[in-house]
Amino acid sequence: MTRLAVCPGSFDPITNGHLDIIERGAKIFDRVTVAVFNNQSKSPLFTVEERLALIEASTRHLPNVSVDASNGLLIDYAKKKNAQVVLRGLRAVSDFEYEMQITSANRKLDPDVETLFMMTNNQYSFLSSSIIKEIAKYGSNVSDLVPEPVVTALQNKYIHQ
Ligand code: PNS
Repeated sequence: MTRLAVCPGSFDPITNGHLDIIERGAKIFDRVTVAVFNNQSKSPLFTVEERLALIEASTRHLPNVSVDASNGLLIDYAKKKNAQVVLRGLRAVSDFEYEMQITSANRKLDPDVETLFMMTNNQYSFLSSSIIKEIAKYGSNVSDLVPEPVVTALQNKYIHQ
């Protein structure tokens, strides 16, 4: 049986912290699908299409990783794709409550889909898409923090705003 994990998120934009989890997941599972969920309440900087393109460009070196988007519930998406696992990164205790909430909701909706957490590498524990956008907005260098395609995309966004 093919072991498929869905790695869901807003990815607005993908960071090196996300990429670290995706790369480590790709070593454990046969396939990993990175799934972009559009959370309009977060007023995204990048469109879903832009986020998909940035994830695709950043994961090209990972042959068992694919990229997709969904507007629905994560658990419905996982079931539709026959994924056994939802893979999430945990940065700090502050992530825990939110993650516990959505994991419990997802388990209630379908107990057969397991959620697995990986601790983010220490060097990325402070990193979030919001922090990246904040730094990039003021023209500071984010090239150590995000994949190369994202550096250019952020520059283009903030130059043209
Ligand atoms: O990167 P994020 O913003 O922390 O990711 C959150 C995400 C996309 C995993 C979460 O919002 C999600 O699962 N959205 C889809 C809707 C859903 O299934 N919500 C959880 C059940 S209530």
